[in-house]
Amino acid sequence: MELSTNKLPVHVSIIMDGNGRWAQERGKERVYGHLNGVESVRAVTEECVNLGIKYLSFYAFSEENWGRSEEEVGYLMKLMLESIGKEFEVFMKNGVRFVVLGNRERLNPTLNAAIDNVMEGTSHNTALTFILFISYSGKWDIMHALKKVVEEAVSSPEGLEKARNMKLEDFDDYLVTAGIPDPDLIIRTSGEQRLSNYLLWQGAYSEFYFTDVLWPDFRKEEFRAALAEYAGRDRRYGKVK
Ligand code: FPP
Repeated sequence: MELSTNKLPVHVSIIMDGNGRWAQERGKERVYGHLNGVESVRAVTEECVNLGIKYLSFYAFSEENWGRSEEEVGYLMKLMLESIGKEFEVFMKNGVRFVVLGNRERLNPTLNAAIDNVMEGTSHNTALTFILFISYSGKWDIMHALKKVVEEAVSSPEGLEKARNMKLEDFDDYLVTAGIPDPDLIIRTSGEQRLSNYLLWQGAYSEFYFTDVLWPDFRKEEFRAALAEYAGRDRRYGKVK
């Protein structure tokens, strides 16, 4: 499929869904779906590097996902730890900057140390910024930002003045995504059509692409189909063209 490169999104964000169902369809444990889901992450990342897309992010683990069974949560943490370690070299070779955003206080020290190591090591790479949202939720992000604003406001008269004069775009600087452009395109797999507490503030003008394909089956061709549909969208941001 031919893609017009001048209509590519700057930031694509993906809600990976359907891993459990994919595994169950094959008579396997849910975790088998997550394992194969990592291959889809790799395929889409490679394609972003090839196409020159600058930001790619994934909703890897929501704040709500902590409510899953201890076994599944433990497996996902282990899978993330292993995948991050394995991909380090590949990130370096391809100029990928690795970033994790979310409520890092809830992650175990081993995973946090591995994340810090790969984030530091890849911090100067510029081809693609690859973001994993881990222990993230949109409401948490907004509340966390608000608390920072309040802290500043009560700590000095200048902080209070700054809070009083705050513009909508200034609030972006307090969110975990500070400095990262809002997602142009949000993809969700597996037929579910909702945001599930994902980038609530940042997704205000995102285009949505929903597909019935389950995440472990979402590879290069499916990704290119999403990009082709995005290229045909007319983004008006509430204005009349
Ligand atoms: C949704 O499927 C998937 C998740 C909640 C976890 C996805 C995380 C990964 C694949 C790990 C990625 C990590 C790296 C480092 C690349 P589901 O379990 O909700 O599926 P279901 O809706 O069919 O139950």
